[in-house]
Amino acid sequence: MDLFSQSLLYLAIFYVYDFFGTFPLNLPPGKRGWPIIGESLEYIGAAKGSRPKKFIADRTAKYSPEVCQTSLLGENLAVFCGASGNKFLFSGQNSYITTWWPSSMKKVLAFPETLEKLNRDDSKKMRSFLQEFLKPEALQHYIPIMDSMARDHLDTEWAPREEVEVFPLAKNYTFALACRLFMNIKDLQIVSKFAKPFARIAPGLISVPISLPGTPFSKAVRGGKQIREELLAIIRQRNKELLEGKDDEARDFLSRLLLEVSDKIVGLLFASHDMTSTSITVVVNFLAQFPDVYQRVYEEQMEIAKSKGPDELLNWDDIQKMKYSWNVACDSMRLCPPAQGSFREAITDFTFAGYTIPKGWKTFWTVYSTHKNPKYFSDPERFDPSRFEGDGRAPFTYVPFGGGPRMCPGKEYARLELLVFIHNLVTRFKIEKAIPDEKIIYNPSLVPANGLLIRLQTHN
Ligand code: HEM
Repeated sequence: MDLFSQSLLYLAIFYVYDFFGTFPLNLPPGKRGWPIIGESLEYIGAAKGSRPKKFIADRTAKYSPEVCQTSLLGENLAVFCGASGNKFLFSGQNSYITTWWPSSMKKVLAFPETLEKLNRDDSKKMRSFLQEFLKPEALQHYIPIMDSMARDHLDTEWAPREEVEVFPLAKNYTFALACRLFMNIKDLQIVSKFAKPFARIAPGLISVPISLPGTPFSKAVRGGKQIREELLAIIRQRNKELLEGKDDEARDFLSRLLLEVSDKIVGLLFASHDMTSTSITVVVNFLAQFPDVYQRVYEEQMEIAKSKGPDELLNWDDIQKMKYSWNVACDSMRLCPPAQGSFREAITDFTFAGYTIPKGWKTFWTVYSTHKNPKYFSDPERFDPSRFEGDGRAPFTYVPFGGGPRMCPGKEYARLELLVFIHNLVTRFKIEKAIPDEKIIYNPSLVPANGLLIRLQTHN
């Protein structure tokens, strides 16, 4: 390079440096799509033919298998991929990243009065609020209740029919269970009052937060509001004595507290029943599809059933014996993960795989970059519960519940609920798919195209 060109190059670098106040950042490769909505439509599957899984696969193939940029829900977003991307995000909490929820989610799940309080440490508060409900003693106490509710549910909703739609029934069951365990609501009429507005929440939870009539977002906001108000009425009733005789200031304080408790309970009810009903549905799907797998699960569960009296309910020791059934659940959730991943926010500029993620950008890790990657799971499209025997899986590759300090606090609850349900299902019914090639689609979360229609036959 001659002296003149060299001077020009230095001058150009100087101007760029002067303009930005720093050297331009080496951002992850990718594109950000349209102004404001970015690539949201492609992500949530509104654009014809796209799926969250395909969205990630296309970008990792085109730009980088480690990290790429996009723009979703009005935010600049770095999508982290592979085991190293998962590890990096799971271990960075409060060091280079922090909690972040999309504003659509906050608006659906929280009272406007508490919105501005949903800040960085809210995840910590939520987790400590949950501790009471999810501590080991509480979980052990839930098992017989789960068992008797699963029996009643199968008696009333499944046994009278030859064919059932699993997905809506699983939603009813997991929701009634969550109301019973977290709020001691036993009256199924009250439960059903909540069920309809809850069904409106999921499709609008991760969406562009524009309130136009009829959009999934505005339906979800209305559903969320209705539930919080119903809940608040119940909590208010329960706390009447507490409020009576207090002065105005104390009354005000308690009312605000009740709003926050109501928000948290809505979050808890939603997280617990939405994810677990999906996981029950995908497990039933694979059990109905693979008779040899069903047979092994049946034998394992019958061993347990035979060791108990007819009215004796399941307990903690029984759950520990359900090893093969849990492997079946694990491979079902690998192939059809109920949650697609989750978000964080960069609290400082940081570097990953040679690229800089600027402070304020949002990050996303996703189950799709490892669960179906042949690098981590051989023949990844094949359903094979035996891959979960032993503990030979590479760390940070099987992540349906996330990982690190933010890993799903409901994992153990979900495991118990799933195993208790499987026990009751297989010990009572043989099952078969009524539509053999029924597809699992995304809306934007995972749903079976026809609700998962299965045929039932009681054991002789
Ligand atoms: C099969 C069922 C479930 C699956 C697949 C699932 C999956 C997940 C995932 C992937 C995350 C994000 C983790 C991360 O950001 O790293 C999460 C977070 C969370 N889950 Fe679950 N979940 C399930 C059931 C439950 C249940 C039953 C509850 C409550 C009883 C629950 C409560 C939560 C809460 C409160 C968070 C937020 C944690 C935080 O912000 O630190 N989940 N879940």
